[in-house]
Amino acid sequence: MQVTFLGQAGLYVETDHGSILCDPWFNTAFFASWFPFPSNEDVDLDAISHPDYLYVSHLHHDHFDPDFLGEQVDKRAIVLLPDYPMNHLEQELRALGFTRFVKTRNSEPVELDGLRIMIMALVAPTDGPIGDSGLAVDDGTTKLFNQNDSRPIDLEPLRAFGHFDAHFLQFSGAIWYPMVYDFPERMKQNLGHRKRQNEMARAKRYAEELGASFVFPSAGPPCFLDPDLFGFNDIDRDPANTFPDQTVFLELLADSGMDNGRLLIPGSVAAVTPGSCRVEHPGDDAVDAIFSDKLSYLRAYQQRQLPEIARRKASWPRHQIDIVSSLKAWWEPLLAQADRTCAGVNGRVLLDATDPVEGEQVVIDFLDRRVDLWKGEPCRYTFRIDRALVEACIARHDEDWVNELFLSCRFEASRDGPFNEYVYNWFKVLSPERLQYAEGWYAELGAAEELVPMDGYLVQRRCPHLKADLAQFGVVEDGVLTCRMHGWQFDLATGRCLTSDDRRLHSVKADEATDGVG
Ligand code: FES
Repeated sequence: MQVTFLGQAGLYVETDHGSILCDPWFNTAFFASWFPFPSNEDVDLDAISHPDYLYVSHLHHDHFDPDFLGEQVDKRAIVLLPDYPMNHLEQELRALGFTRFVKTRNSEPVELDGLRIMIMALVAPTDGPIGDSGLAVDDGTTKLFNQNDSRPIDLEPLRAFGHFDAHFLQFSGAIWYPMVYDFPERMKQNLGHRKRQNEMARAKRYAEELGASFVFPSAGPPCFLDPDLFGFNDIDRDPANTFPDQTVFLELLADSGMDNGRLLIPGSVAAVTPGSCRVEHPGDDAVDAIFSDKLSYLRAYQQRQLPEIARRKASWPRHQIDIVSSLKAWWEPLLAQADRTCAGVNGRVLLDATDPVEGEQVVIDFLDRRVDLWKGEPCRYTFRIDRALVEACIARHDEDWVNELFLSCRFEASRDGPFNEYVYNWFKVLSPERLQYAEGWYAELGAAEELVPMDGYLVQRRCPHLKADLAQFGVVEDGVLTCRMHGWQFDLATGRCLTSDDRRLHSVKADEATDGVG
């Protein structure tokens, strides 16, 4: 098996039974804030553009690069699709022209003409853009696990897949915390230090647990080339910086007695067989040119990319949208359905859309479930964001503001009290479908499942498909319950799903229910 590293989480895997292109990312992401580090400008794109298979682990834009996929990749590629509850990834890829899909089931191996693959799908609201995944590949001789950003909680399916020869995984931060917060500097340093250590410790733990023959740091860190953000780069191995590079993690592994870590840079080729790994870099001094004077390397990279950053910034809309009224019309109907989210936030969030001429301050009130012009009410969280970015999210009707705006790190935040997961999850579920899914998820985390009466039956409240609230979305006719969210149907007497073969509805005749039910 031969693996060409493409930068960030990008891999081009070649085997005797076909090639797999994984997470190719070549265009700046998140409002031109993230760039692949090291640069992958010199990767031979033609050589990777006609894969047999395409795997996009999830929709974050450092993994899903629609411009590259749309313009460069042969649409005959067969897409290896993770088992996500909502099919946004499939929809996006279909919109780009891909038509051939292998729909995997979570943690179940699939045979594909000599290749055996398995995708571990993670589907909590906190997993990436509601859905993150890792790919295991077995070509009959060599086994690889491309974990990238995902954090599998059950390693048994991976162990059952067999011993891995190669393990690719994320080891650095990929988030805005704590840099964007207005914490006192000393506190920020401490939090950053802890985060840096925790990220690498978790990656090391995964590497130890899986015990692959060779470990390859991948999936980050990005670099920040906009002068506004350049300070986020880890130039001098600052122990409080959350973006340590590959060399730092490999040293950590070596210091712990793990000498099986291998460095790859974009264009490096790793030939992996059971018990051996030979790495060829794209030039004799290619590694040195990046890491021996990282600041000079990044400054030169920055010079090449400044025109692209300027071009992107010029395209952001400004003063074209009334932010308060747009968000009110969009979000208030969602707030009305967001019982658990509202209870979880239990406060207000201020979106301070700043602008040198005219900003707008919007309060999202999770107590009264309204969106309005801010009148000075106390707020639990405050986000200060250039109004152009807020307008861009509104103009595109982004249903997930994390996957562009928050990951851009182009904002400042303050909060009154501890971290609240519900606040960020709210910004990922800005459609009825996504919201219902998150609400259902929270509901299932709660106590015993709630039952609701329907047509003489007590029925589980959350739809087995994507967890819509059946008290709101369910209708019964002739003993068949239809969920109006996506139209799935269930036979009330048996619980059998009439739409899909792998879900069941829990239902019991109301007059047979006992005190133990509900
Ligand atoms: S949530 Fe999709 S049919 Fe119910």
